[in-house]
Amino acid sequence: LAPPLTLNVNGADRTAAVDPETPLLYVLRHDLALLGTKPGCSRGQCGACTVLMDGKSERSCITPVHTVLGKQIVTIDGLGTPEDPHPLQSAFIELQAAQCGYCIPGIITTAAGLLDHNPNPSRAEIVDALQENLCRCGTHTRIQEAIELAVDRS
Ligand code: FES
Ligand code: FES
Repeated sequence: LAPPLTLNVNGADRTAAVDPETPLLYVLRHDLALLGTKPGCSRGQCGACTVLMDGKSERSCITPVHTVLGKQIVTIDGLGTPEDPHPLQSAFIELQAAQCGYCIPGIITTAAGLLDHNPNPSRAEIVDALQENLCRCGTHTRIQEAIELAVDRS
């Protein structure tokens, strides 16, 4: 059996005894019990599984876990807490931007990646950043408004 891998997730080192080719998504959910990151298409096409890797939003379903060793991974579970939510999380709750909510962890982590390198994006830049995050409930307008609210407050 291969030796356990050590990943830095949400600011802590975590170990997982997995095949190094295992997609990060499954390691997060199955081995580390971080269920905020959602499985969708498993083909890199829907954005439900998005996490931050060194501040950049990436799809965890098509990322073999061995490629993230040494990187700082942040999932929706680590972006904020119920007591101290991330400004994006507060804005999404305030504007009730979720309907079923399934796409929202991927959308918020994608938006967090956008704001990391562009703290004051235009509506067009927000739309462009979320172009490949699918929302079957169609709450795009509220999602965009929630991101703008978080931008206004930061
Ligand atoms: S589950 Fe990863 S992009 Fe759809
Ligand atoms: S809120 Fe349901 S898929 Fe986006």
